[in-house]
Amino acid sequence: MEPGRSPLAGGRAATLIVRVEDTTDGSVVEHTFAHSPVRIGRSARNELSLPHRFVSASHGVVEFSGHGRRYTDLGSTNGSVLDGDLVPPRVAVELGPGAELDIGPLRLTFPAPPIEVPALGPDAAHAAPPPAIRPGGITAVMQQLARAPTTEQSWQDVLFPGSVIGRFELVRELGRGSFGVVFEAEDRHLRRRVAFKAVRPGGSSQVLLRQERLQKEAEAIAQLTHPNIVTLYDAGTCQSGPYLVLELLRGATLQETMRRERLEVSRALEIAIEIAWALEHAHAAGVVHRDLKPANVFVCSTGAVKVLDFGIASVLGGEDVRAVGTPAYMAPEQWRNGRQDPRTDVFAAATMLCETLTGNLPYRVTRSSSAVLDPGARPAVEAPGVPGDLQALLRSALSADPAARPLNGRAWLDALLATQERLDRPNRLETWRARLQGRASRIPLRLVLGAVGVAAAGVALLYELLR
Ligand SMILES: Nc1ncnc2c1ncn2[C@@H]1O[C@H](COP(=O)(O)OP(=O)(O)O)[C@@H](O)[C@H]1O
Ligand SMILES: [Mg+2]
Repeated sequence: MEPGRSPLAGGRAATLIVRVEDTTDGSVVEHTFAHSPVRIGRSARNELSLPHRFVSASHGVVEFSGHGRRYTDLGSTNGSVLDGDLVPPRVAVELGPGAELDIGPLRLTFPAPPIEVPALGPDAAHAAPPPAIRPGGITAVMQQLARAPTTEQSWQDVLFPGSVIGRFELVRELGRGSFGVVFEAEDRHLRRRVAFKAVRPGGSSQVLLRQERLQKEAEAIAQLTHPNIVTLYDAGTCQSGPYLVLELLRGATLQETMRRERLEVSRALEIAIEIAWALEHAHAAGVVHRDLKPANVFVCSTGAVKVLDFGIASVLGGEDVRAVGTPAYMAPEQWRNGRQDPRTDVFAAATMLCETLTGNLPYRVTRSSSAVLDPGARPAVEAPGVPGDLQALLRSALSADPAARPLNGRAWLDALLATQERLDRPNRLETWRARLQGRASRIPLRLVLGAVGVAAAGVALLYELLR
């Protein structure tokens, strides 16, 4: 690969501008987004947060690309109106030029972004097109990565803090998985910190497998651009073998977060929803992760959640549907080496949610077997404080039979959002009750006594008049 050339470079990034007018006072605010999708809702976890009481916690979502824009109402309480018509919930509708989307008295319009004109330099005519990524196949760009060997010696010689590899200076080790070792590194050209992931050393057959995994990872992430999926900046080879350059995440993996603290139901649900957004995007792009587990989910210090490690991801329709995952999160079809599809990821995502909520895995698992394979197996999803409808959702997503689970990331996301909306509602009632009580307690006693006195006098007068 050309040094410094990103496998992602060359594509013209689409931009979304949302103009929000409050028709009650005429105020207007304009927001610009570089990443699709843009989630719209009352809470701050949405990209476009509209903190008005008539907006649902997760109200709707706009997906956009260079080709167009679509809006989906996520089953919000008060609904969304597009050009005067109520938008049916959970159905994507096109946002044509001049579309007006009303959420209560808020009017959202979508002005066209300024057109980007590519600079016409002397090299413009010869500029290489972005590498085509053929679904299911290892791209030519990635094949180059496999050529350099990884041996214990070359690894020790190259991968250590202080080492300089091309334009990257390794700063410190961040973590290790079964295949890769990840360093924080300084990109000296762009003067930014990145994550540098290289293959771990091992026996030669192991190393070949790991290199192939790294290629697949690059290929899978290169097809995905999403705020809940770690971004791939670049890929290359050095003396120790292939490497990936990824967006550097600060915070901790979900595994570390769970070890440190027991998460509240609302936070556990929020994290599950963020993961579901990533799955919705990956599945729509034809990618199945197949190794979702808390060590592959990162909870950033900003609160954002990102899915990592697409090392054994498969591209739907590709030739390889078999791969091992991690026993505790593996669906029965993975244990049986059977056909895996988006429902395999739904099973793993539900296993993680169950673990964050209850502190335990839903099925007893050893390295070589899982209770999910027993006939009539039932997941353990009960724990104090876990609402009944969340338990019911987990039971369906953890079914041994894939046909009984939500179909894919989208269906899983919809079910989680609907549950969150239902759980949010009583809280809103409680807020109102607390506010009313707060107000009542601020009314002075003499006013209350006065009002009672006036009422009593009124009753006495009425009695006199009617007598
Ligand atoms: N982009 C990143 N930013 C910060 N830390 C990372 C990043 N990617 C991975 N890590 C850390 O490295 C560990 C191993 O990375 P992972 O991609 O899961 O490797 P493997 O493919 O070997 O499992 C993760 O659990 C995490 O702690
Ligand atoms: Mg991993």
